[in-house]
Amino acid sequence: MSADPAPSSAYAVRRLALTAFRSYAALTLEADARPVVLVGENGAGKTNILEALSLLSPGRGLRGTALADSARRLPGEADPAGPWAVAATVEGPEGSFEIGTGLTPAPDGRLTERRAAHINGVAAPASTALSETCRVVWLTPQMDRLFLDSPGGRRRFLDRLTLSFEPGHGRAASAYEKAMRERSRLLRDGGEASWLDAVEAQMAAAGLALANARARTVERLKADLAPLTGAFPQGLIAVTGAFEETRAPGDDGEARFREALARRRRADAEAGRTGIGPHTADLAVTHVGRGRPAAECSTGEQKALLIGLVLAAARAQARADAGAAPLLLLDEIAAHLDERRRAALFDEICAIGAQAWMTGTDAALFAAMGDRGQGFCVTNGALNPI
Ligand SMILES: Nc1ncnc2c1ncn2[C@@H]1O[C@H](COP(=O)(O)OP(=O)(O)OP(=O)(O)O)[C@@H](O)[C@H]1O
Ligand SMILES: [Mg+2]
Repeated sequence: MSADPAPSSAYAVRRLALTAFRSYAALTLEADARPVVLVGENGAGKTNILEALSLLSPGRGLRGTALADSARRLPGEADPAGPWAVAATVEGPEGSFEIGTGLTPAPDGRLTERRAAHINGVAAPASTALSETCRVVWLTPQMDRLFLDSPGGRRRFLDRLTLSFEPGHGRAASAYEKAMRERSRLLRDGGEASWLDAVEAQMAAAGLALANARARTVERLKADLAPLTGAFPQGLIAVTGAFEETRAPGDDGEARFREALARRRRADAEAGRTGIGPHTADLAVTHVGRGRPAAECSTGEQKALLIGLVLAAARAQARADAGAAPLLLLDEIAAHLDERRRAALFDEICAIGAQAWMTGTDAALFAAMGDRGQGFCVTNGALNPI
């Protein structure tokens, strides 16, 4: 596979270095801006690389496990030898950045869940600095059940997409969660009404910011959900939930949410939880062609809908970010697609201009990529160009 670089404004990892990360004691990888194909046997370490790349964005990465779980453990050892680190040179629309991230051990050497980040060598909070420096969108086989499982997974999916459009979304989400926990504590302990008023006002302000940001994400995606190639079905998306559905345009949602919370104090105290608010929302996805909710579609249709959603998110993000497509991490993406859809996926990735990182056990699945991509073979903890 030879050089034919993708548009340089997209986010592209040009160098990646892993230290004590999962199966890798140490790994250095250099790449150009084209999409990357990682081929290797089961257990070779392909997903581990995608996971490391996902940690260039805030949060717990694409496996969603505790951060300490990513630290390398030798076979048979219960404890990791030390903290992990991921370093990358990432090209983006604002130039090239050196991003470093890893776990911060406690003074006694124990691994904590505290993540450190460095941008160009300067320490920065991982929760915000990373989303401002690098944008990452992923799709993993674990997400195949997104439409079937509980709304929590779909909210997290929507929140992650929102975060990549609006780095401040994480702050609104944690302010909301914190105020909600405080309200529950006051309700449980019989706190004074004036304290409850204050904490409900905080909840309403943060909750509305949260709901508005999610609604903006859905609006942004809608424009990109029409099928370009016809290979991926058109999805219709909406945020649903008691709070979202009763909102009307121009209505002062914040005041109404505050009043609703005040009215529900007794019921919520009895239930031990807040029964209304954006933390109960859901992302409803409908297969337009079938006229059915995604959960009623076939396994293949659900996968295609999900791919369509992720590609729409990448397109929408590129539009919002001066044409710079996010990094796309597509784990085992080719395995369940027929030849026509695989070709359409590669065409779409190239049209978006994204540096997509795709994994598979068989190089033949990526043949249609041709010179538009670069390939590496993952064996024995090392990567060799194909
Ligand atoms: N914390 C850890 N320390 C050391 N090794 C780990 C750790 N976590 C996972 N591994 C190992 O990493 C190896 C590679 O895993 P990975 O999921 O990246 O494989 P893969 O190439 O994606 O395989 P598949 O094709 O089956 O998806 C596995 O053998 C797994 O046991
Ligand atoms: Mg894997």
